Amino acid sequence: MSSKLAGKVALVTGGTSGIGLAAARLFIEEGARVVVTGSRDDSVAKARDALAGVSAVRVSDTARQEDVSALLSEIRAEFGQVDVAFLNAGILKAGSLAQGSEADFDAVISVDLKGPWLTLQALIPHLAPGASVVVNTSVANERGWAGLGAYSAAKAGLRALVRTATAELAPLGIRVNAVSPGPTWTPIFGRNGATPEQAEAAAQGLIPRIPLGRLGQPEEIAKAVLFLASADASFVAGAELVVDGGLSQV
Ligand SMILES: NC(=O)c1ccc[n+]([C@@H]2O[C@H](COP(=O)([O-])OP(=O)(O)OC[C@H]3O[C@@H](n4cnc5c(N)ncnc54)[C@H](OP(=O)(O)O)[C@@H]3O)[C@@H](O)[C@H]2O)c1
Repeated sequence: MSSKLAGKVALVTGGTSGIGLAAARLFIEEGARVVVTGSRDDSVAKARDALAGVSAVRVSDTARQEDVSALLSEIRAEFGQVDVAFLNAGILKAGSLAQGSEADFDAVISVDLKGPWLTLQALIPHLAPGASVVVNTSVANERGWAGLGAYSAAKAGLRALVRTATAELAPLGIRVNAVSPGPTWTPIFGRNGATPEQAEAAAQGLIPRIPLGRLGQPEEIAKAVLFLASADASFVAGAELVVDGGLSQV
């Protein structure tokens, strides 16, 4: 077992499921004290059981400033500082330009774009020198996907935010980067009322676009997040590491 994050305090937003859960598990294996958030009592309770060795699991809505600042105050009191933050919490709501609802647009922008902005802002006074922040974007920020207007716009905005954050925080010794997953098999496909069969069909339907001929696994994204979070990426700042089986390249 390696210990790339030994002694580090790591925050994983949206760490109760999918990619965030896999990253939290890997960070714990690598020696970090890990704080995980989710937005629902039941998911948080399940994550507490699923994550052996986790230091704290909290309900904290990433889109609500009061939740974010309460979370950071709590982390400050309990752990002193943050060395690694994986801003991963996100939702996907599909809807075409013609038929998508304003409520869905607002929800996606709030969670996927405003949430990381709020969290980055709140994190600044608590980040240790040499800290690393990784945000979770998506290949949807560079491809046109019918029905993903709000999601793609939020993720493209998030990609831009990584550049701004790098300009502002690199002088403080803080690295900010993005991981950009391609289609990855997680519970996100089954949210918004899809049946398990519909979720599987939606995910499988993406495979013909992926040169490696399969979906990604959350653990494969987590390994890329660990690279960016750790000293292995000590000269990487403002970048987006694409982990998509080749989808965005051909
Ligand atoms: N799976 C993919 O194909 C894919 C591809 C590219 C990018 N991504 C990105 O990867 C990230 C994780 O997605 P996933 O596929 O792992 O999905 P997931 O399994 O649905 O996990 C989403 C996580 O975000 C949390 N979350 C949602 N809304 C939140 C809020 N308002 N406040 C705090 N936490 C919230 C969820 O917690 P609760 O259940 O408690 O709300 C859950 O822990 C997202 O940003 C997504 O856009 C995923």
